[in-house]
Amino acid sequence: MVADAGLTGQVAVVTGGARAIGRAIAETLAGRGATVVSIDLSPSDATVAAIEATGGSALSIEGDVTDETGVAAAFEQVLERFGRLDVLVNNAGLFAGIERRPFWEIDLAEWNRVLDVNVRSVFLCSRAASGPMRDAGRGRIVNIASNVTTFGMANLLHYVASKSAVVGITRSMARELGPSGIAVNAVAPGLVTTEITEQTVPEQYRRLVAEGQCLQQPILPADIAEAVTYLASPEARMVTGQTLLVNGGATMGPA
Ligand SMILES: NC(=O)c1ccc[n+]([C@@H]2O[C@H](COP(=O)([O-])OP(=O)(O)OC[C@H]3O[C@@H](n4cnc5c(N)ncnc54)[C@H](O)[C@@H]3O)[C@@H](O)[C@H]2O)c1
Repeated sequence: MVADAGLTGQVAVVTGGARAIGRAIAETLAGRGATVVSIDLSPSDATVAAIEATGGSALSIEGDVTDETGVAAAFEQVLERFGRLDVLVNNAGLFAGIERRPFWEIDLAEWNRVLDVNVRSVFLCSRAASGPMRDAGRGRIVNIASNVTTFGMANLLHYVASKSAVVGITRSMARELGPSGIAVNAVAPGLVTTEITEQTVPEQYRRLVAEGQCLQQPILPADIAEAVTYLASPEARMVTGQTLLVNGGATMGPA
């Protein structure tokens, strides 16, 4: 049963919707009435099943969002199937699996891999989505950044660079697409508890991060999904070019 129909009739593409934050975003958008398409390297069958179980509509497309031809084909498939595209959430990204090391030990292949998945994908998917959105004179793009851009995390230079690029892309795209009625914003999470971060980030470190937040509870995928859904909703009509930190107030600076 769809609880809140604010996005009824709209079509939303979520990249990386097969699990964790992307899955929560897909399910929350569907809960507000959107038909959701997840483009992910892995099948998004569990996401689709969860959405359909609550009366929603969803589609899984298996694809690599760094691949130009594949991205174009995926967006063509969305338009052929549903005839419209209202919301794009650029969520797919590399984070928890990245090994932390001093930047002088990062080899070029690793640098390229992180930048490709975290930045090139945002360019390719936004470019593909911008055509139908400009034709319609409306649309919403929400990019998933990270709060690391505000404090510059050590030993993760490629990741920090990639998410800083996402913040800049958000502002520039907001300027270019605003005249066509399209809003572009970002959500910058703190450390989010997911099935992957639970495996890859030591519990002691996760506790330390939570203690550094004003709100000292763990941040959950649903917290990010609610912020994304607000930015995708009609209520955020005049919000664009912004990066909304969802990090429990971790980065306000010293008291
Ligand atoms: N988890 C956190 O603490 C955290 C914090 C800040 C920002 N983020 C950002 O949030 C987003 C989601 O993070 P997560 O923790 O849910 O990640 P995750 O690794 O758990 O899930 C990412 C999903 O994206 C998919 N994906 C990866 N590369 C892809 C590609 N090339 N093409 C298509 N799909 C691809 C994966 O298959 C997976 O389903 C990322 O952009 C990440 O950088 C996460």
